[in-house]
Amino acid sequence: MNFEFTEEQLMIQQTAREFAETEIAPTAIERDKEAIFPAEIVKKLGELGFMGMMVSPEYDGAGMDTVSYVLAMIEISKIDASVGVIMSVNNSLVNYGLEKWGSEFIKDKYLKPLARGEKLGAFALSEPEAGSDATHQKTTAVKDGDYWVLNGIKNWITNGQSADYFIVMAQTDPDKRHKGITAFVVEKGTEGFDHGVKEDKLGIRSSDTCSLTFTNCRVPEENVIWEVGKGFNFAMNTLNGGRYGIASQAVGIAQGSFDLALKYSKERKAFGTEIANHQAIQFKLAEMATKIEAAKLLTLQAAALKDEGRNYIKEASMAKLYSSQIAVECALEAVQIHGGYGYVREYIVERLLRDSKITEIYEGTSEIQKIVIARELLRD
Ligand code: CAA
Repeated sequence: MNFEFTEEQLMIQQTAREFAETEIAPTAIERDKEAIFPAEIVKKLGELGFMGMMVSPEYDGAGMDTVSYVLAMIEISKIDASVGVIMSVNNSLVNYGLEKWGSEFIKDKYLKPLARGEKLGAFALSEPEAGSDATHQKTTAVKDGDYWVLNGIKNWITNGQSADYFIVMAQTDPDKRHKGITAFVVEKGTEGFDHGVKEDKLGIRSSDTCSLTFTNCRVPEENVIWEVGKGFNFAMNTLNGGRYGIASQAVGIAQGSFDLALKYSKERKAFGTEIANHQAIQFKLAEMATKIEAAKLLTLQAAALKDEGRNYIKEASMAKLYSSQIAVECALEAVQIHGGYGYVREYIVERLLRDSKITEIYEGTSEIQKIVIARELLRD
């Protein structure tokens, strides 16, 4: 096993770190407070190649490996997890699936501008009554000549208001359960397609989340991804990739919490010395650092397996399960170490705590990750 990063991977990590510190950090508190979408930042991420990191240059992507993506995601999410999820959805849930299963028409028309960062993508699987139980899709698509007519509602869609292209799963043959689900690309502005109001969230407030409605929305046949009836398999395979993306986001939140806690504990004095000299604080720091290292290794392992073309389903779910859990734990400890200061916006750790919780919920709850892991264990 090789634990050394290549020069290119280190360079990408450094670029992401500098970008996060200089371009993302200055507006993070305000964007969180006012729930402002970071449009300018996303545009610049696109110029750096970070919105199409793993897409091959043939489709205008940066052609980087998954390990580099994980390293970049950690750096960005350390500073602002809202920007992290916007980047993760575009890379993992949209570009990856389109490159792997989209037709040449779809890749040319939709993937290329997404990979260049000129357009933004969203992934619409969840519904008001189909979250964890994703096979029970109620959104329907009925064939009418060269078009599919979509009707239904999608919920909790990250980038829902800001995206240009949406991957939408819908039932095309209800009798066939998940084998009757099909995935489509739907463009913003298509007649009969609208989005709801922005959700007023606990965390990741600078990313936008909303519902989508489809009312007799006509989508051309060539926008079917893979083939009719393959939409659920498409969504599951795509989510495997999303899961190491969110695991990286969670590692970033945990690392950001630790960095701030370490810095504060070396500055703040109590009982005549810096609080870092108290064993109570040292034990917290030691536990946080150990957990972060373990989460990072799990996440990098999933990424490395993917880069080697090996099965990474179990490892991606393990990485997401563990990293999200420790993100919440580390953020809580960081607030505790900061005491009262940890409870106010200026000291940032309160945002990291609010941002951390969603990592245990979206792209498959912790409970769903355990189902996926157990099934893979029993299959082995
Ligand atoms: N990878 C690949 N294929 C998978 C898979 C995986 N991880 N999990 C299931 N499948 C496949 C199965 O092999 C099966 O395929 P075949 O019929 O071809 O053999 C098919 O999917 C159906 O599987 P099951 O019969 O096991 O279905 P189930 O209903 O018992 O369980 C589930 C499926 C794993 C619980 C699934 O519904 C699931 O993952 N739910 C969670 C959904 C989720 O993660 N939602 C996140 C929304 S997206 C989001 O949050 C994005 C955002 O904006 C940030």
